[in-house]
Amino acid sequence: MLNESPVDSLSLQPESVDDAARRATVVPRLLFQPAARATRAAESVATVCLAAQRLSAFFGDIAAVRDVDLSMETCRVTAIIGPSGCGKSTLLRSFNRMHETVSGARVTGSVLLDGIPIYGDGTSAIAVRRHIGMVFQRPTPFPTMSIRDNVAAGLRVREGKMPSRRDTDDIVEDALQRAGLWAEVKDRLRTSAVAISGGQQQRLCIARALATKPRVLLLDEPTASLDPASTQKVEELVYDLRSTMTIVMVTHNMQQAARVSDRTAFMLNGSLIEVAPTNALFTTPQDARTEAYITGRFG
Ligand SMILES: Nc1ncnc2c1ncn2[C@@H]1O[C@H](COP(=O)(O)OP(=O)(O)O)[C@@H](O)[C@H]1O
Ligand SMILES: [Mg+2]
Repeated sequence: MLNESPVDSLSLQPESVDDAARRATVVPRLLFQPAARATRAAESVATVCLAAQRLSAFFGDIAAVRDVDLSMETCRVTAIIGPSGCGKSTLLRSFNRMHETVSGARVTGSVLLDGIPIYGDGTSAIAVRRHIGMVFQRPTPFPTMSIRDNVAAGLRVREGKMPSRRDTDDIVEDALQRAGLWAEVKDRLRTSAVAISGGQQQRLCIARALATKPRVLLLDEPTASLDPASTQKVEELVYDLRSTMTIVMVTHNMQQAARVSDRTAFMLNGSLIEVAPTNALFTTPQDARTEAYITGRFG
């Protein structure tokens, strides 16, 4: 049995939407020191929700991610860009301990969620994943389950046992509302999850991730398989969700990063080359390799 208590008894308790919103508005104000106003950009007073420290991720002996230091701010969208094979997905999967599900895979360094090491002794991967949800490139609904049961399936991860039927219905509705899908599916919650469009399936997967009320949502190229209209819906959703949660999104689409993210990180050959506010990274990159990539000279 995985030991879940240490991580939960610290500060990894599921947080309500209200709590997250309150933290987002109150904490920066409390931390703000008037004396520091002249030297500190507003950005530097934002709280860090998730932080990678000297994080490396290996497949066997090969490092796919090397020595990454990256802080992701609370209630902001951080985009991770870079050419195919540079380690974006591997880095993202190291943020919620999905990387270790691959045989022979391991990480070194650390990842902190609100200061708590997710790879710490006695911290369970299951507990970590219910606080740090993930959505993949292709929609992955459970094909034999209904729309409702797909969202409810996320709760098993949270509770171990299912809440009552009525509570489940409320949670399912709330998650579908937050995923912007409720109006489209409320009259067919019992139909198969694969009877809806690909774009709807992807929002369903987002709803499933939201059902556990995670602090962080990891999105790995969530619109790569979607048509433009569905892509726009998911982008709008990401933009809206960040008022209540921290989002990290891998994308190979630089326009998408520019549209939806607050900060952008550029990776190359497993290393983090540069991270900056999105506008700054795309207009005044500090590293010649970032500039070469964003101007289309490779990738
Ligand atoms: N399951 C795996 N086993 C071995 N090597 C892998 C595996 N998954 C990815 N890799 C390798 O790790 C590197 C980074 O891959 P990935 O993180 O998927 O890159 P990206 O998401 O940026 O395209 C690549 O060289 C890839 O071939
Ligand atoms: Mg990838």
